Amino acid sequence: MLRFSGKTVVITGGATGIGFAAAELFVREGARIVIAGRSSKAGEAAIKALKDIIEELVKKDTSFPSHMPIYVQTDVAIEADVSRLMELAAEQTGRIDVLVNNAAMFYESDFLTETTEQWHQVFNVIADGAYFCTKHAAKVMVDKEIKGAIVNISSINSYRALQKSSHYNAAKGALDQLTRCTALELAPHGIRVNGVAPGFIDTGLSVIGGVNELETEDFLHYYVKQRKIPLARAGFPQEIATIIAFLASDESSYIQGAIIPADGGLSITF
Ligand SMILES: NC(=O)c1ccc[n+]([C@@H]2O[C@H](COP(=O)([O-])OP(=O)(O)OC[C@H]3O[C@@H](n4cnc5c(N)ncnc54)[C@H](O)[C@@H]3O)[C@@H](O)[C@H]2O)c1
Repeated sequence: MLRFSGKTVVITGGATGIGFAAAELFVREGARIVIAGRSSKAGEAAIKALKDIIEELVKKDTSFPSHMPIYVQTDVAIEADVSRLMELAAEQTGRIDVLVNNAAMFYESDFLTETTEQWHQVFNVIADGAYFCTKHAAKVMVDKEIKGAIVNISSINSYRALQKSSHYNAAKGALDQLTRCTALELAPHGIRVNGVAPGFIDTGLSVIGGVNELETEDFLHYYVKQRKIPLARAGFPQEIATIIAFLASDESSYIQGAIIPADGGLSITF
């Protein structure tokens, strides 16, 4: 059975990494996808890949819902962009059932030398972006009496400290509190809000300063050979996508305000 047949799913930063893996899974489960992103090149490539998947699925089963995915150029840090995104999604598909707040940025920065602009840049994308998206998507859900689901992509960094990452970690901490507070405030409308907190996942975000941190000697020695990550490996975007889809589906109907770690056990150790 297709879990998302007839449903519209909006994914921010959905053209790459975890967001794209989620888009692919939702498409395979019958959803109409709206990807919001900053890079039109990545957006177009993602839409083409999703269309190819849908065409394959329709070839195998002509009754498969062939809703074409939509890309909307959006900077989630700009409220006017987000408002337009949600209006377009609602206009073109008639509804918004699921929002995945996935867009984020990361770069290393030393706390003492980091500028206020840099701090705001990361906070604006992760915390303000999720706030704008949640507000504008939830308004559509409430107006249309849709009992929707919102899934926030957090990080184990939201509750652990890391060198050169105060902006990102603080913003993810804020996102976790946004998850809990909106879970409380939107519950009377039948809207569920939950989160996923990934550990090390193999995506473009793992490439820092041109180096994939998951391929460095340090990572392999400490996290893999010494089993700092008990499962002794990084995760794959698809392993996060399955949790996103679970939290967006009726299978998680009694989960509200939860943030599920998906980190191979990393955050249970010290
Ligand atoms: N990869 C990891 O190890 C890891 C670990 C923990 C959490 N996460 C979280 O997972 C989520 C997805 O990251 P990913 O690993 O797939 O990396 P990614 O870089 O592939 O995905 C981030 C996406 O957000 C988009 N984005 C950035 N700023 C934006 C803006 N202002 N407006 C719209 N889109 C914007 C990027 O273009 C990109 O498509 C993020 O929230 C990230 O913090 C990733």
